[in-house]
Amino acid sequence: MAILIDETKRVLVQGITGREGMARARLMLEYGTRVVAGCTPGKGGTTVLDVPVYDTVRQAVEAIGGIDVSVLFVPAATVKSAAIEAIEAGVGLVVLVADRVPVWDAMAIARSAKAHGARFVGPNTLGVISPGRAVVGMIGGRAESARQWFKPGNPSGVGIISRSGGMASSTGYYLGQAGVRISSIVHVGGDAVLGLRLPDVALEFESDPRTDAIVVFGEIGSSQEEDLADLIRSGRVTKPVVAYIGGKAARSGTRFSHAGAIIEGNRGTHQGKVEALVAAGATVVDSFGDLPEATVDTLRRRGRSGCLMTAAERNAVWTSAITRIEPNRVAVRGYEIASLMGRIGVGAAVHLILKGELPDERVGRLMDAILVSSIDHGCTPPSTLAARTVASTGAALSAAVAAGISSINRHHGGAIEDCARLLADLAARAKRDGRTLDEAAAALVAETKSSGARLPGFGHRVHNKDPRTVRLFELAAEAGLDEGSAPHIAAARAVERAFAATGRPLPINVDGAIGALLADLGLDPKVYNGIFMIARTPGLVAHVVEEQTRERPMRRIDPERHAYDGPAPRQP
Ligand SMILES: CC(C)(COP(=O)(O)OP(=O)(O)OC[C@H]1O[C@@H](n2cnc3c(N)ncnc32)[C@H](O)[C@@H]1OP(=O)(O)O)[C@@H](O)C(=O)NCCC(=O)NCCS
Repeated sequence: MAILIDETKRVLVQGITGREGMARARLMLEYGTRVVAGCTPGKGGTTVLDVPVYDTVRQAVEAIGGIDVSVLFVPAATVKSAAIEAIEAGVGLVVLVADRVPVWDAMAIARSAKAHGARFVGPNTLGVISPGRAVVGMIGGRAESARQWFKPGNPSGVGIISRSGGMASSTGYYLGQAGVRISSIVHVGGDAVLGLRLPDVALEFESDPRTDAIVVFGEIGSSQEEDLADLIRSGRVTKPVVAYIGGKAARSGTRFSHAGAIIEGNRGTHQGKVEALVAAGATVVDSFGDLPEATVDTLRRRGRSGCLMTAAERNAVWTSAITRIEPNRVAVRGYEIASLMGRIGVGAAVHLILKGELPDERVGRLMDAILVSSIDHGCTPPSTLAARTVASTGAALSAAVAAGISSINRHHGGAIEDCARLLADLAARAKRDGRTLDEAAAALVAETKSSGARLPGFGHRVHNKDPRTVRLFELAAEAGLDEGSAPHIAAARAVERAFAATGRPLPINVDGAIGALLADLGLDPKVYNGIFMIARTPGLVAHVVEEQTRERPMRRIDPERHAYDGPAPRQP
């Protein structure tokens, strides 16, 4: 597990339209952070990287629902008002990246946070990362490097707390090199007045069941390390603590890089911190280079080596999060394959492998229905004609089926994704313009009719009441997805009503219905066409085999003049 941030948390970026905010929002999204909105006064109604931007945090919350974490890339002078705005709008955790935030402002933010039961990290923080899950702030840099440097906790990891931004990353990197997995890395920030301090974060790690030990990069100044020592002594932190304290050579009155790293009189000295931690039972290393080995030793000694990587894992030069193979063991997304076999259907398995999670039984049944609905659509679709044409040349089954699959593209099957996007845009547009879905749909249909464009996912060249669509929506309702609860279905129904009101009804077709359902199930649009390919493959295999057994090679395939001669209608 992880603390403060993971892939489920809904993240807002304040200052998303600014230089750093935009660049970091991209990196956060690439790493997997669920960035759901941005906010910059005066820029509401725009989008950045497909993320909707609002004028205020409150407007964002009203439009898209609760926000768990807000990360602020706004300049120091506006941090106080922006942070308090987020806290007052109900955001539970605020991450303040800017440096040079006035101490009085940090104190005002602390008062507001306390009054509203919120927490904040920083100011002057590089942020928080939970490796393999999500990042907020600037920690780890490019998503690719962050993935390579920090080894995700699986099942557990060590928690890193750092008072230095650069050394937060370095500590994570060197622990990774030593084969240590990480649950989360928190840079508490370098200022004198902070939100979550080092001991607060240690308590978070203490209560995280998937954190095995706590690694600290401390430094001179403040009483954060001494307070951590008190927590260890009093038994509130029981997990092993391994620490390095920077600034050994600094003399009293010298500032050690950060505003908070200053020795005043005898307070906050290197020696005092080391002695307090050692007396409390922590392992303190004298040189930063010894930190990884001391961590590995401590984990082994304290029987917490679950977060140490195996030799094979350490030697790996790339990783995959899909299936783990070991002698006599196959685990898909963490589930033993034998435990899935005979228990879940193919739809649930497809959901598991593509979304990473097992659906409940009703959603599994809906996924099954989606796959069944697209298994075949007779001899006319381009993929079938392509597969049969290649099959007729004597090609291997794989080549002929691949030819069919290759023809599944933007205009064949692509309406699934296009329709899902259209419905999402419609819902966003209605919200932004303060109109009902029906009003926005009527406007969209009018625009479409006047421009002569076609709406993807609506209408069918053969069916005007497609049996597949009707059944899919029935099963969706059984799985809890209906107009009241599922935004894409609601938008689809509004478009249907808008077409009906013009006197020329145009119902949603099976592609459109699948797009709406997959979007409401939270599957990534990148896989929609893939789901269609998975569904259609058995149909293509059947056509290729039939072509090669019934027909003569190299026949001229008439795309239209064909008839069905299979079994008469029957009940399953
Ligand atoms: C925070 C920081 C990164 C912002 O820098 P920047 O991205 O170059 O600043 P910009 O002016 O381009 O962008 C700030 C944006 O915030 C917006 N903004 C200002 N007040 C805002 C508010 N209350 N709510 C939302 N957005 C706000 C601005 O309008 C601007 O967006 P715009 O350019 O679209 O108008 C910079 O001030 C900073 O502190 N850098 C140091 C960070 C650091 O090193 N931290 C410590 C790590 S160890």
